[in-house]
Amino acid sequence: MEKRVLLIVGGGVAAYKALELTRLLRKAGVAVRPILTESGAKFVTPLSLSALAEGKVYSDLFDLTDESEMGHIELSRSADLVVVAPATANLMARAANGIADDLATTTLLATDKPVLMAPAMNVRMWSHAATRRNLATLKADGVSFVGPDEGAMACGEFGPGRLVEPGVIFEAIMNALQGGASGPLAGKRALVTAGPTEEPIDPVRVITNRSSGRQGYGIAGALAMLGADVTLVSGPTALPTPTGVKRIDVVTAEEMYKASLEVAKSGEPLDVGVFVAAVADWRPDDVFGVKLKKGHAGPPTITLVENKDILAAVASLKKRRPKLVVGFAAETNDVEAHARAKLARKGCDWIIANDVTEKGVMGGDENAVLLVTAKSVERWERAAKGAVSAKIADRIAEALK
Ligand code: CTP
Repeated sequence: MEKRVLLIVGGGVAAYKALELTRLLRKAGVAVRPILTESGAKFVTPLSLSALAEGKVYSDLFDLTDESEMGHIELSRSADLVVVAPATANLMARAANGIADDLATTTLLATDKPVLMAPAMNVRMWSHAATRRNLATLKADGVSFVGPDEGAMACGEFGPGRLVEPGVIFEAIMNALQGGASGPLAGKRALVTAGPTEEPIDPVRVITNRSSGRQGYGIAGALAMLGADVTLVSGPTALPTPTGVKRIDVVTAEEMYKASLEVAKSGEPLDVGVFVAAVADWRPDDVFGVKLKKGHAGPPTITLVENKDILAAVASLKKRRPKLVVGFAAETNDVEAHARAKLARKGCDWIIANDVTEKGVMGGDENAVLLVTAKSVERWERAAKGAVSAKIADRIAEALK
């Protein structure tokens, strides 16, 4: 089937390279639907873009003709991939903050498709703390990046910030488009658990934790991008379902246990199980049927009982054990020793350990991880959570080859 790219062209001297990119894509049989931002139109004309794309150029959110033909929601849904080239500092900033004040940013906010950005800006803008933050946020939201290059710039300066050549963006687009059917994990089945669980005390109160679910959702999305058939069993989160991922929503650890074992025991056998969820270790033994009142009896006593270990249960399945079982661990000290002990105790193949004492890791955008297997330990360089997800997916693909 013909692949379709929605190409957002931002404003910058490098916008002319979007024309060559469009030509390369059309030559490869990829349909291109361009969105030209207002500032983009200062650098390339709608006419040349439309001639190369062989179709209409979209630019104005409030153009009534566009809305009747195709609204911005439809625009973002009808593509296999959304590409932003050049992605200016301003476009990245607006996208990172969910601002939707023109057709391009509204489309980026409305899309449920993978997004690839090719940044282009002055070297100082690229290295500014604000752009660093926006980049980390976008990566954590699952956006992929190609470039920028280092070199001489139109503004006369030298350094990173230059748009990569159209050929390089083209390669990245083709890779992303092929991700599904011919990716390294095509035909492989994955289970990912993510998010916190909630253990009820009474009809209004729960015991839970601060897991956002972002790392697990990131891994589920990254596995799907490589072609895996991914089922995500998720506790309560505020996150959108990653593209191409099947999601089962649960609330309690008991429900997560049941759903995960059901996924593991039915259908094609799992190739990989990745257990990222922050499962509550304990739940209240008795759930009060009515809301507990302060009354005069003093504070209630809540007796806790231990929840079943989902990771250990799946790892100990005889015939239906996934080929690769990956657990997570949050540690504050003796990270490697604790990770090794957990690997043995839970019967998994890998433990990905976070050192949560590292600044900015807990609840932050970056992660510093240790990959512990029966035979080896690797310390990964600190990176954005999105980049860590992609690297984990790559390693899983390598291991399952
Ligand atoms: N896990 C699970 N089911 C549980 C508890 C944990 O699947 N009931 C999984 C988590 O998803 C994670 C790993 O086990 O992959 C974490 O193990 P856990 O023993 O909960 O880790 P910590 O809380 O770090 O352990 P400790 O009690 O040693 O601090």
